[in-house]
Amino acid sequence: MSKITPYKNSKTKKEQVQAMFDNIAKKYDLLNHTLSAGMHNIWRKKAIQKLTNNPKTILDVATGTGDFAISAAKYTNANITAIDISKNMLDLGIKKTFDKKLENRIVFEIADAEKLPFNKNKFDAITVGFGVRNFENLTKGLHEIYRVLSKKGIIVILEPSIPKLFPLKQLYYIYFNYLLPNIGYIISGDRSAYKYLPESVKKFPSAKKFINKLEKAGFKNCKHLYLTFGIVSLYIAIK
Ligand SMILES: C[S@@+](CC[C@H](N)C(=O)[O-])C[C@H]1O[C@@H](n2cnc3c(N)ncnc32)[C@H](O)[C@@H]1O
Repeated sequence: MSKITPYKNSKTKKEQVQAMFDNIAKKYDLLNHTLSAGMHNIWRKKAIQKLTNNPKTILDVATGTGDFAISAAKYTNANITAIDISKNMLDLGIKKTFDKKLENRIVFEIADAEKLPFNKNKFDAITVGFGVRNFENLTKGLHEIYRVLSKKGIIVILEPSIPKLFPLKQLYYIYFNYLLPNIGYIISGDRSAYKYLPESVKKFPSAKKFINKLEKAGFKNCKHLYLTFGIVSLYIAIK
């Protein structure tokens, strides 16, 4: 089955995703805030509240401009390592971290989720916000995340999803397929990036299938919750 990619050219999905986030980095936070109607930080807070093992170390995978890592610093006492493949996104995360005087709590590194440069069992908790859908090889990424998570460590994953109930399903369809790509294009100047967003969400496995993938990677007690009428999915699992 062909992969959904942003630019539909001959480069790998990873190269295209990296180029896309480097390209839209400066407008990413504004767009995130606009397109989620300011709800994105509430979703991150809800996810972090599920880290009930009082983590001392957290890895934020696909951190982008660092918002999940910053929330983790706010709501836990952990030291956080935040990784991403896009340098331009990370540079903005580093700047925000200094502005918020959190540089002693959060360390940023360029790294690939599918080949994490860490020893096994290193982190007490792992967060991934709106990242796994972008992996070139989802199975490989989940196995790597499992490897570096400590025994009994907790992972929380946020992903956009499509509401199922009338009339929200129909209204969201119009928003997601017509309004969002246009707002995304106007603000970021990258038409492909905000066409890729709904396309990649549609292509992402159903909650049941994704839970199955988590279990296959070794995770236990895998749970799925819908947030905000099902426009976002929160997955929680334990090693
Ligand atoms: C939609 S952004 C999410 C950023 C942030 N987590 C948030 O909640 O706003 C997705 C991020 O995933 C990163 N990404 C995609 N594939 C990756 C991979 N294989 N390893 C690390 N980061 C990756 C992209 O560079 C991008 O910054």
